[in-house]
Amino acid sequence: MTTAIPDRFSGSVVFVTGAGHGIGRATARRFLAEGARVVLADVDLGAAQQVARDHDPDYALAVECDQTSTASVADAVHRAGQWASHLDVLANVAGGAVPHPPIEEMGDAEWAYELDLNLTGVMRCIRAAVPRMRTGGAIVSVSSINALAAFGSEPYSAAKAGLSALTRNLAVELAPRQIRVNVVAPGTVRTRVWDGQPGGADRNNPLIPLGRPGEPEDIAAAITFLASGDAAWITGITMPVDGGMLTGPQQVTSTAAWQEYLRRSGEAAGDGGGDSHGEVDDARSSADAPSGPGALP
Ligand SMILES: NC(=O)c1ccc[n+]([C@@H]2O[C@H](COP(=O)([O-])OP(=O)(O)OC[C@H]3O[C@@H](n4cnc5c(N)ncnc54)[C@H](O)[C@@H]3O)[C@@H](O)[C@H]2O)c1
Repeated sequence: MTTAIPDRFSGSVVFVTGAGHGIGRATARRFLAEGARVVLADVDLGAAQQVARDHDPDYALAVECDQTSTASVADAVHRAGQWASHLDVLANVAGGAVPHPPIEEMGDAEWAYELDLNLTGVMRCIRAAVPRMRTGGAIVSVSSINALAAFGSEPYSAAKAGLSALTRNLAVELAPRQIRVNVVAPGTVRTRVWDGQPGGADRNNPLIPLGRPGEPEDIAAAITFLASGDAAWITGITMPVDGGMLTGPQQVTSTAAWQEYLRRSGEAAGDGGGDSHGEVDDARSSADAPSGPGALP
């Protein structure tokens, strides 16, 4: 269970994107619980306002922000500037996996949209926020374990991996101002993106050594840690927060390629092969535990 650290962010101003739902909402609430003034930015203004409504308006401001639009991001940061004279923390949480066809059928527009939402959109927020950030500030962006291993969805994975490269370079670029820049890479987290999926977020439990999906609060705890003084000597990293999903070979054995291998080796052995298939993705994943004659040693 995660626990807020009272006053850790007293006097700080934090801009959280995607603050209306899921991980962003939990992150905004955690910063508020720790004494920060928080700008809740979201393309879904109504959702951000609903979160803000539970808090003192001197501490929580909801703003509309579509990070696929340069003008919208600039406007949101401008509104933040009218509310607070500076920013200390930028938490880039907004993003997500978009359904798409296989790579050989993918159009340029589908590819470009996923990169725009998950990579360029984060750059837009950083570009707009950095001039307003004080010395000693922090930027934390939310990526995915898809950036670090093959769980499917090429454009989403490529965009999220791009955040790590962006972050390493910015960590060096902004170090003279003592602004730290880091990434949190979540595994499967129980948010609305799993609604309607067979098995929901729990479908990946066999792939998670700690045996459960993450809760939004697990990721909020990591984001606030990296934004805090406790991480004063950490910059440029990508930190998985995944219940151990990246620790072992199960990530490989969950892939369609591995399942195809199991099927073929099973056919060769005359028993019909493995019976599970599918891909593991933030939005679409395999629930099947790897098993069968071709299991890794
Ligand atoms: N849930 C998971 O399993 C999981 C795993 C790994 C990474 N992530 C990442 O975590 C982040 C949050 O995901 P979530 O699961 O909380 O999803 P969510 O859908 O609950 O929240 C995403 C938020 O981003 C907002 N948003 C969407 N498009 C936007 C845009 N163009 N501009 C501004 N805001 C926009 C949405 O309105 C929403 O409030 C995403 O970047 C996602 O890729 C999620």
